[in-house]
Amino acid sequence: FSPSLVDSYSRKHDYLRISLTERCNLRCFYCMPSEGVELSPQGKIITNDEVIRLAKLFVQSGVTKIRLTGGEPTVRKGIGEIIARLNELRGLGLKSIAMTTNGIALHRRLPEFIDNGLSHLNLSLDTLDPFKFEIMTRRPGHDLVLRTLDVALASSKLDSLKLNVVIVKGLNDAEALDFVELTKDKPISVRFIEFMPFTGNKWDKAKMLPSSELLSRISKAHPTLARAPDELNDTARSWKIPGYAGTIGFISSMSDHFCASCNRLRITADGQIKVCLFDAKELSLRDSMRIGASDSDLLEIIGRAVQGKQEKHAGMENIDVITNRPMILIGG
Ligand code: GTP
Ligand code: 5AD
Ligand code: SF4
Repeated sequence: FSPSLVDSYSRKHDYLRISLTERCNLRCFYCMPSEGVELSPQGKIITNDEVIRLAKLFVQSGVTKIRLTGGEPTVRKGIGEIIARLNELRGLGLKSIAMTTNGIALHRRLPEFIDNGLSHLNLSLDTLDPFKFEIMTRRPGHDLVLRTLDVALASSKLDSLKLNVVIVKGLNDAEALDFVELTKDKPISVRFIEFMPFTGNKWDKAKMLPSSELLSRISKAHPTLARAPDELNDTARSWKIPGYAGTIGFISSMSDHFCASCNRLRITADGQIKVCLFDAKELSLRDSMRIGASDSDLLEIIGRAVQGKQEKHAGMENIDVITNRPMILIGG
């Protein structure tokens, strides 16, 4: 494991999230302002070759899991090729190729992506009500996401299938039990996510329902609810109703952070390394690659960024007052 990926709190970073695009085919209010965000000119977005070069360098340094994010990763041209080329890095130690997607434009292409090597899929779906879907995402398409979920469930080759549900108090929290019911027959992990503040998303503490409160509501309805094992370095605490096929998870970034076990690094679509979701300090790997940096030059920059990683929440006491990228330009 390369020392460049170990930070000053001895955390080993073996998980890389690569944002492939700043664009999205939805407009979720918790992710971006209604007017959208200013996009980088196309020439500033890292190319497929640059994505693969960085991925290879990180895998050679110890990364075993790569998650593709966005914006919405499926709107990136050439994503199929990127997945296929990442698949070739399995020989160097890459174990998981993951994607977080809204599933709007995926049901037809998902089998191809899985054949190319995609092994872990996280699907964002915040409501089971098509009308509410349009309120939250400012776009139609609820049925398309459900189709993607069906295609994913029908695949025998996915190692993991999770549903991400961002809970916004007063909007979709009353649906929690309906989401829990999805796990009765479906072998999925439904994860309730606390609403987090990002630039332009009008976060308000009053709209944030702490996981503990949601958990107590669910356990009232399901007294047999029991703690289930978590994956190593998981963002979620998992629970299960005995006899149900799937699990329920809580991602409590706000009320009970999990920074001590953080193993993630991020590359933004414009080629910056970002060591924490909440850290606005970034270093450009793109610029260095484009002036001829060698792999060891890049590793030196990566190492410097990783050494600057703070113990928790980018060193802020209050993450609701920080200036960061809007969520859409980070990818979660
Ligand atoms: P797995 O790889 O399956 O564990 O998924 P994940 O939970 O790491 O990633 P996903 O893209 O599905 O994101 C789910 C939620 O977790 C989103 O709200 C992300 O913003 C949040 N999240 C992901 N990584 C981190 C992190 O390092 N810190 C914090 N605070 N939240 C994170
Ligand atoms: N708070 C919590 N989760 C968010 N996501 C997007 N914006 C927010 C936010 N403000 C989630 C998406 C997606 C994942 C990448 O991050 O729903 O599932
Ligand atoms: Fe698009 Fe995902 Fe952001 Fe929604 S959360 S606007 S689907 S990038």
